[in-house]
Amino acid sequence: MLTRNWLATGVTLIASALVIHHNAYADEGMWQPSQLPALAGQLQQRGLALDPKQLSTLTSWPLDAVVSLGFCTASFVSPDGLIVTNHHCGFGALQVNSTPQKNLINDGFLAHTKQEELPADPTQRVYVTEQISDVTSQVNAALKPDMDGYARFVAIDEAKKRIVAGCETPGYRCDVYTFSNGYDYQLIRQKELRDIRLVYAPPLSIGKFGGDIDNWMWPRHTGDFSYLRAYVGKDGSSASYSKDNVPYRPTHWLTLNPKGVKAGDFVMVAGYPYNTDRYRLADELQSAIDWEYPTKIGMSRDMLALVDAASKKNPEVGVKYATLVAELNNAMKLFQGNLEGLARSNALATKRAQEAALDQWLAQQKPGGALDGAALQADVVNLRKLVDAHLKLRERNFVLAMIQRGGLFDASYQIVRLAQEKQKPDLEREEGFQKRDEIRLLGAEQGLDQEFDPAMDQQLLAYQLQHYVKLPAAEHLPALDRWLGGVTDEAGIAKKVAALYAGTSLTDTKTRVALLSATPAQIDASNDTWIKLMRELMPDLLAVERQNKTFAGDETTVRPGYMAALIAFNASRGLPVYHDANGSLRVTFGTVQGYKPRDAVEYTPFTTVDGIVQKTTGVEPFNTPPAELAAIRAKAFDGLAPAGSSLPVAFLADLDITGGNSGSPAMDRNGQLVGLAFDGVWEGTSSGWLFNPAETRSIQVDVRYMLWVMHHLDHADNLLDEMKVKVPQ
Ligand code: ARG
Repeated sequence: MLTRNWLATGVTLIASALVIHHNAYADEGMWQPSQLPALAGQLQQRGLALDPKQLSTLTSWPLDAVVSLGFCTASFVSPDGLIVTNHHCGFGALQVNSTPQKNLINDGFLAHTKQEELPADPTQRVYVTEQISDVTSQVNAALKPDMDGYARFVAIDEAKKRIVAGCETPGYRCDVYTFSNGYDYQLIRQKELRDIRLVYAPPLSIGKFGGDIDNWMWPRHTGDFSYLRAYVGKDGSSASYSKDNVPYRPTHWLTLNPKGVKAGDFVMVAGYPYNTDRYRLADELQSAIDWEYPTKIGMSRDMLALVDAASKKNPEVGVKYATLVAELNNAMKLFQGNLEGLARSNALATKRAQEAALDQWLAQQKPGGALDGAALQADVVNLRKLVDAHLKLRERNFVLAMIQRGGLFDASYQIVRLAQEKQKPDLEREEGFQKRDEIRLLGAEQGLDQEFDPAMDQQLLAYQLQHYVKLPAAEHLPALDRWLGGVTDEAGIAKKVAALYAGTSLTDTKTRVALLSATPAQIDASNDTWIKLMRELMPDLLAVERQNKTFAGDETTVRPGYMAALIAFNASRGLPVYHDANGSLRVTFGTVQGYKPRDAVEYTPFTTVDGIVQKTTGVEPFNTPPAELAAIRAKAFDGLAPAGSSLPVAFLADLDITGGNSGSPAMDRNGQLVGLAFDGVWEGTSSGWLFNPAETRSIQVDVRYMLWVMHHLDHADNLLDEMKVKVPQ
């Protein structure tokens, strides 16, 4: 096991590696803001005009204008809490305000005044990061050498909860983020804004032009942007939706640069990437290739077919499951891109070779030197064993995770679990079920109706159960088997599931909301079929949870050692060192540039509206609005196009981004907004595992296209005025 001393050694090595050697490597790296001053030389060389120190201060411009939506990134663009993000990030707010008759997803939406703005889903949040502090020693102080995996998990979990409780005040959310499974812990304090409203989105034919056919690809012509606004109580404090709330006033906001950027310019993105796997083991990559991606692709395809068939019969299902459909399509293509890219780049062989090289290097580190190679090597060996044992449960864990995502499965789970957790002191309650979480649990039950249809939910559960019954007997849940009563065939499962839905009133929002305050005795007395099933199932689900927690606790004994070994090894070769993405604020910087996807083919870094005309067929997703086509043909670009050329739509840069970065502002050398990151290219989809500088590119929607669509097509001049942008004309 590693002590804090070993970790400290690692940290020193990081700093020197960054300063001395980083120039040799392309723009890989999702940097924590505090790392940026050490990268000053490189930032300036790439063209940054700001003082790099400015980028390490969270409470000053421009980083304090960059906010998290939880699942996406966004930024303030006016003193009145106006927020810009991607169209696919504002999608949920469009969906909950849509019906088949009045479909805002298809038509787009513009609030001409603040009164016309529409409340987003009640669980929608905007988080403004205000403080990040290292709490590693506080967390590690809770650990004792003789703890087993589960005890370690609990000790770390309790330490984090104590730290969080000491940090949170009304209107603020604090979380302890774990870096590299326990290498570092950081406390992040964020202002939590809860009244979020939909302000503007272009129609689907612009906001998702090219749809899933063009998704994850270049050349791209999507106007992937939309606007929200954050509201607070009259006294300025965070509050749930109320029509009397007032716009939130951020300390800083970004200004838009209507001139945009050109090839070769400096560009940076700040945002909240949620996960990368750059430091995973080769065995984990192998499992992703052999099992995880193919399994998930197959399951996504089946689920999409089910939802598609139901939507054809009932258009309401289409609206309610629009977000799920978009997510499944997006993930499915990402997994396909990964499989293709990982095979093409021979990533598994590279990873295995890297691991062998690490083993060899560690073997050379003699005891008594700067690093105890033998101790680190033991960690690496133990990590491999641990991971391999856990991978044996991958099928079961996946099937259960899918089942748990169902509408009424989740609702009954939240209800039964909350009733149990409420019996404990707050600090001992399960994460997600503490007092601080109750308002979100309530919001989830209030909002469920907008994304749930009982018949569809039933069909999806029956589908998942068909996978469950095929699991090896040892991986079954005894209570679920009792409920199934030996049934394993499709028709039999469908009948069981039908009875489950026939005997429940959880489809009613008032009932669900009321049950959130039920006592365990009331839960025990309930005759609701779903509540009864969940009551029986809970002990089995808790046993699975305990197993997974034990694994996570065991991981903290060895993964940080593996990380320390990698950091030292990378540093010895001058390779960049940063942690895998974990949902915390990161900055990536680089250059506007194209790439060569294959022999004799070169992609230039800008698309223009000319490509929209070329792609338009009139059939979704290539159904450009006629007014847009006419304006493009008339070259009516209002002075937004660069002299002598057409109007840019999207641009490429060598920025290191991933899921969660969607909506991130792309900023120029002066920190002005020049676009929004919204995707990556096909050849770079596997960059979550291995960053290939030659082919990994981020895709941004260009600020000039955003302004043009807003001004020329949608007449959103109220927002342009608010952002103090003058369209050149
Ligand atoms: N690939 C993008 C991402 O993962 C999503 C783009 C949304 N558009 C779409 N056609 N699905 O953030």
